[in-house]
Amino acid sequence: MDLQDKETTSGEIIPVVIVGNGPSGICLSYLLSGYTPYLSPEGWHPNALLQSKLAERPHMSLLEQDLEYLCEGLEGRSSNPVAVLFDSLLLPDSDFGLDHTSPLEWRYEPQRAVPHLVLGKGPPGGAWHAMEGSMLTLSLANWMELPGLKLKDWMRDKRRNVRNDRATPAEIASYYQHYVSQMSLEENFACGTTVTSVSREPGEQDGSPPCWRVSGLQRREGEILGDGCSVAEEVPFSLLAHNVVLATGTHDVPARLGVEGESLPFVCHSFWELEAAISRGELDRSSDPVLVVGAGLTAADAVLAAHHLNTSVYHVFRRPVTDPGLIFNQLPKLLYPEYHKVHQMMTQQQHQSTLSPPEQAQNLHSTPSSSSHPPPSSSSSYPGYLSFPCHRVAAFHPDRKCVLESDSGEQAVVQVSKALVLIGAHPNLSFLHNNGRPLGVSPGEPISCRRNPIDVDPFTNRVLAADGPGMYAMGPLVGENFVRFLKGGALAIAGDLSKRRRWGSGEDVVPAEVLDS
Ligand SMILES: *[C@@H]1O[C@H](CO)[C@@H](O)[C@H](O)[C@H]1NC(C)=O
Ligand SMILES: *[C@@H]1O[C@H](CO)[C@@H](O)[C@H](O)[C@H]1NC(C)=O
Repeated sequence: MDLQDKETTSGEIIPVVIVGNGPSGICLSYLLSGYTPYLSPEGWHPNALLQSKLAERPHMSLLEQDLEYLCEGLEGRSSNPVAVLFDSLLLPDSDFGLDHTSPLEWRYEPQRAVPHLVLGKGPPGGAWHAMEGSMLTLSLANWMELPGLKLKDWMRDKRRNVRNDRATPAEIASYYQHYVSQMSLEENFACGTTVTSVSREPGEQDGSPPCWRVSGLQRREGEILGDGCSVAEEVPFSLLAHNVVLATGTHDVPARLGVEGESLPFVCHSFWELEAAISRGELDRSSDPVLVVGAGLTAADAVLAAHHLNTSVYHVFRRPVTDPGLIFNQLPKLLYPEYHKVHQMMTQQQHQSTLSPPEQAQNLHSTPSSSSHPPPSSSSSYPGYLSFPCHRVAAFHPDRKCVLESDSGEQAVVQVSKALVLIGAHPNLSFLHNNGRPLGVSPGEPISCRRNPIDVDPFTNRVLAADGPGMYAMGPLVGENFVRFLKGGALAIAGDLSKRRRWGSGEDVVPAEVLDS
């Protein structure tokens, strides 16, 4: 959709604009398009308390129900109560590996639809490729799925033999694109857009109410030139909206170590650069080892990817392997055998800072206080892997040598083919005042998924410190790190909009001021 056309319908205020077209934005678009969850007549939930609460108002959709009441007493692996509720309704008891049928049924009620626009840089769900490891390859496929289209069924149609419950990132991205067309949501999606500003617009003398102005650029394929190539041009747009939803994710800008040599070409900051190097055939069993920096799930994905190619790996991270804050110490082993394996490797194959004499003899580096490592030995239980807990990278050198330093100050020098710095990422909220910092749980600090998410009401996802009413945030921006739980934010927002509309007088979602005053 071309946003310039939207603008020419002058003065139109769009009820909802969603910034970001990943799984969060797609799921919210589904709920705003009239697809409505109800307890199905034969629906039954294994949690007796939740079942009895649901049965009190079976005629009422989940969007109208008091989510706080339904959430009471539920527990799960998200700190967001509505996320736990919705997850438990979509996939009851999935944490125990059980495959209960969802007690919900989805009814299409077009009269409920709220006009909305979803803005995104790439194709719907396409940002998938930039997501953090925890959202990537290794989650169970059904946790990735959106309501109304079984991912398993779709995968079965796509490929002959579904080997396991896992899907590749490319399959997931393709599933999300397919989902948008299957559910006829396309007309709400404007792709190729970069939002440059979201700000509060004061009301006008002529009686038009205050609202949000969303401005940016949209890429448009230009005219086909004589040589058959088309030139893309960026066309500015500017929209007015009663409500704006921040759903951009937090993976725009990879975090950096801030050490010497970090910009050298052999140093990468995303998993996808590793994938690209692998597909170009740059890495194999004869390559120098790959250095992986970080102890999150993306780093683990990189360790596994290199391991599968039989490329040796040096794995450097700041924490001790037993640190309870380490994500591996929090994941259930049963559901994440791969990550459990990486954790075992980290534990069992640690670098010993007191080197044996033969290794000392191989010291090739000129700095007397440092030691140089041969590629990890092949006699151990995980050949080709060596971990350096409680170490940091001190510098990268152009000859592809990396200087590692332990907490106690000892240095080691390793020769590598590539270094992968996978220590997290930050959102790019440059379109908000002061990069969105005033909206965080700790105002003034940069927004990040783990350390400083945007502060929202847990049952409506309204942004508490917004410049005006009608601003919502969801997904990793509010600290939700698993796709499985993103859908909770969509339910909370759609529920709040639906309640505001019901209590208001007009047909559309009425200006929030009217309701909040
Ligand atoms: C953030 O996004 C803006 C466009 O909205 C872009 O100009 C800027 O370079 C980005 N910042 C970083 C650090 O990537
Ligand atoms: C890695 O090594 C194992 C054992 O030597 C071998 O079976 C496997 O095919 C190798 N994988 C690759 C990608 O070279």
